[in-house]
Amino acid sequence: MTNIAIFASGNGTNFEAIVNAVNNKIIKNAVVSILIVDRHKAYAIERAKKLNIPYVYVNATKFNTREEYENEIINILKPYNIDIICLAGYMKILTHVLLDEYENRIINIHPALLPSFKGAHGIKDAFDYGCKVFGVTVHYVSSELDSGKIIAQRAFEYYGNSLDDLETKIHSVEHILYPEAINMVIEEKQK
Ligand code: GAR
Repeated sequence: MTNIAIFASGNGTNFEAIVNAVNNKIIKNAVVSILIVDRHKAYAIERAKKLNIPYVYVNATKFNTREEYENEIINILKPYNIDIICLAGYMKILTHVLLDEYENRIINIHPALLPSFKGAHGIKDAFDYGCKVFGVTVHYVSSELDSGKIIAQRAFEYYGNSLDDLETKIHSVEHILYPEAINMVIEEKQK
């Protein structure tokens, strides 16, 4: 059994997609053990309540350093024997504390074809640039923003002029690609 922790800051649609993929056995032999959120208003919390997934809000402002904050998260995760951490719209760069504790076991989804359009506005940045090929990337997490070895990518052409429409398309690709990439990571670990 693979124990998954998910970290989110906002809406939580990827969190929900991963939980559904586990429940529907698209991700096999896994359980979403806990959701960690860094914003008490994150809508992901409402999704966790609905889906019956334990969640913990960790308030980073209560800690003097990012390292202390991450040590608190490690303490919270310990009883769950977490195998993989999935960042899903978690808008913080990790330090060596979490990266060392969960080496090669933390992954992230980004709504652009990395290494292009890193950051918090990947979709809008690519759209404003005039891109005609868009996509999604799932990658291992490193200590730099939206960097680390790529696990999976999916691209598609879009010639429309609606950012809303494009965002909807990107999110629907994310919700399929993230579970696929998690399966790849699980298989890799079992080798
Ligand atoms: C997703 O589009 C994810 O790719 C993006 O945040 C969104 C979270 O949506 N992440 C990044 O931009 C990371 N740089 P969600 O809360 O509905 O899953």
